[in-house]
Amino acid sequence: MGFPNQRLRRLRQNENIRRLVRETDLSVNDLIMPLFVRPGKGVKQMIPSMPGNYQMSVDKLVEEVKILEGHGIPGIILFGIPDKKDEMGSDAYADEGIIQQAIIAIKKTVKNILVITDVCLCEYTDHGHCGFVRRDDRTGNFEVDNDMTLELLVKEAVSHAKAGADIVAPSDMMDGRVGAIRDALDEGGFHHIPIMAYSAKYASGFYGPFREAAESTPGFGDRSSYQMDPHNVTEALREVSLDIGEGADIVMVKPALAYLDIIRIIKDTFDYPVAAYNVSGEFSVVKAAAEKGWIDEKRVALEILTGIKRAGADMILTYWAKDAAQWLKK
Ligand code: PBG
Repeated sequence: MGFPNQRLRRLRQNENIRRLVRETDLSVNDLIMPLFVRPGKGVKQMIPSMPGNYQMSVDKLVEEVKILEGHGIPGIILFGIPDKKDEMGSDAYADEGIIQQAIIAIKKTVKNILVITDVCLCEYTDHGHCGFVRRDDRTGNFEVDNDMTLELLVKEAVSHAKAGADIVAPSDMMDGRVGAIRDALDEGGFHHIPIMAYSAKYASGFYGPFREAAESTPGFGDRSSYQMDPHNVTEALREVSLDIGEGADIVMVKPALAYLDIIRIIKDTFDYPVAAYNVSGEFSVVKAAAEKGWIDEKRVALEILTGIKRAGADMILTYWAKDAAQWLKK
């Protein structure tokens, strides 16, 4: 069997045939929109490196979430830029913290969208690291203290749940954080709140624009002592296995595009719900090329999102969520 009996072009000859044999289905059901919230009133400030994305005050944020709900987007993920940052990242777990205010305000007016919160300290610490930094007495070097950080992350996750978060998403990459957060949520009566764990989160250059948006670039050093080394695959499987064992409900791979193999192997190995984060740099490079007229943004964005879905992602966190929801309607 082969040519000329077989002609694969027969099933490509028109759009209706192509629709029938299509193997991957990208829809609005797959999309989660990241949003940035900051203090103030009436603030909607464009993020220069991420055209079409804004730092918004709570009032503007609520308006935006209402629009996303109208487009049928199932969820948003919130990132906070607090008024004051300090060594302990205390705004992250304050009752009146920026995220807590945002959740309460959204929940008052928008009923049909999931509010997911990023649980991490880098947006709240003055040094920009994702945890508690202390000086090692022996070496004199600064290091992110894993177990001390867990205490702060637990407080943050519980305070998000108290404010009304529907899902918490720890993105810090400390060891043991999923289990610690699960225990604390259960003790606080939040056994029904799922954890979306950033399980395989790599130390990536693609986070650059996000760090401008969240004002969270580390003041010294980098994140490679806690985020994963881009060269590794089996380590990602160990991370996911530990997180599932600790009670993760959804596991995430981040970034998405340089890590499509990781998405596929995690989906095949664990058959768990997999989220993929199509991160800021992956968005911005396309935006920049489109602005120069070098690339068709809509076509490329949908191709990228389809590729992430085809690799095995069940859901995609993407700055294109709002645009894609509208493009997919037509
Ligand atoms: C950490 C966090 C980061 C992103 C999401 N959560 C940044 C980092 O690790 O520096 C990046 C998202 C993106 O680039 O779009 N709180």
